[in-house]
Amino acid sequence: MLDAIGRRCSVRSYTNEPVSEEDLAQILEAALSAPTANNVRPWHIVVVTDADRRARLSQVHQWASFCAQSPVVLVFCADASRQPHWWIEDSCAALENAMIQATELGLGTCWIGIRGGEGREAPGPERERLVRELLGIPERIRVLGLVSLGHPSGEPRPKPPGPMDAIHRESW
Ligand SMILES: Cc1cc2nc3c(=O)[nH]c(=O)nc-3n(C[C@H](O)[C@H](O)[C@H](O)COP(=O)(O)O)c2cc1C
Repeated sequence: MLDAIGRRCSVRSYTNEPVSEEDLAQILEAALSAPTANNVRPWHIVVVTDADRRARLSQVHQWASFCAQSPVVLVFCADASRQPHWWIEDSCAALENAMIQATELGLGTCWIGIRGGEGREAPGPERERLVRELLGIPERIRVLGLVSLGHPSGEPRPKPPGPMDAIHRESW
């Protein structure tokens, strides 16, 4: 497990090779096995492979361009009407599980933020609206982020773990 976690890094360049349905099924199973507050499981994941839709997703902001190249984009959403307090945490846990399983399968991923923040071109709510409109996602569903997914072109270069001075024992 630590090996897969350590090998995960943001991959922003992909080959044309499609992601197999078997691999995709494992990645989605990993996502849906994440912890979830009160066991609500508010997640929804839209699997996008259509080239035109991916091209349009790649324009949602300036750090999403490689969605046009990755054969799959996973859109991590949650029904915030069912889980207004913890949908963000639930969605992040599912998304991270998916990225680690993809790494384990030799695939590359990159998290692309949608929700929140004041983007340089479009603030979070505007970015969410764009993704919702493009994919026909209902209004009550929040969009956490995208994950580009595919076979890495070139050797991924994982970073070493963050510095140990972030760890505090017993008290700060
Ligand atoms: C909430 C969040 C949003 C991110 N959004 C983007 C993004 O929009 N575009 C992008 O290229 N990378 C994005 N990233 C990836 C980070 O840039 C990357 O994880 C960070 O630089 C560390 O590199 P690593 O993933 O290779 O360890 C995002 C990561 C997180 C956690």
